[in-house]
Amino acid sequence: MTGRLCAVALFALGAFVVPERSYASSQTLDVSPTIGGPFELTTHKGEPFSESDLAGAPYVVFFGFTYCPIVCPTTLWELSQDLAALGSEADGLNVVFATVDPERDTQETLATYLSSFDPRIVGLYGTVEQTAQFARNYKAVYRKVPVGDEDYTVEHTAIMYLVDADGRLFDTIRYHEDGQDVRLDKLRGLAAKSAQSSADR
Ligand code: NI
Repeated sequence: MTGRLCAVALFALGAFVVPERSYASSQTLDVSPTIGGPFELTTHKGEPFSESDLAGAPYVVFFGFTYCPIVCPTTLWELSQDLAALGSEADGLNVVFATVDPERDTQETLATYLSSFDPRIVGLYGTVEQTAQFARNYKAVYRKVPVGDEDYTVEHTAIMYLVDADGRLFDTIRYHEDGQDVRLDKLRGLAAKSAQSSADR
């Protein structure tokens, strides 16, 4: 049933992995790309949510959909384990799960689904166009794939984006690529980076 895999090969991240360029001067250059941008979505609790809700604090964003059979639930389960392991260290992190299946993922569907995971994970949904805009902000891609006559699945970018308090891509976590130790290091690093960033101001 390969058509049921919601995986994963859709990486548009190449544009973000900017190799360090050779500049003649010794000045420090921050080549971390700024990602994100304006958007309007709604949380699984029915509250409006926009870019201002993500500004000024580090966050993790992951795209998926509640009907996803494997990748999304596995990722959210692992993320829940990680948040539990981090405890209060994760207090400064916002964590959002944005659906790429706006036709089926209603507020109620998302709320029911997320009740199985860490309560700090905020579900986001919107119209077809709002969903597309949010994905474009992260160069995430997704597409509906028919399964049989009436059903469909959604292939989607399945990396977690770790974004620092200044809106720069800090790191990514890829499905089944990083063990928990590595994931925790990255998440701790994100929190520390944000604290450093704030302290520099
Ligand atoms: Ni998925």
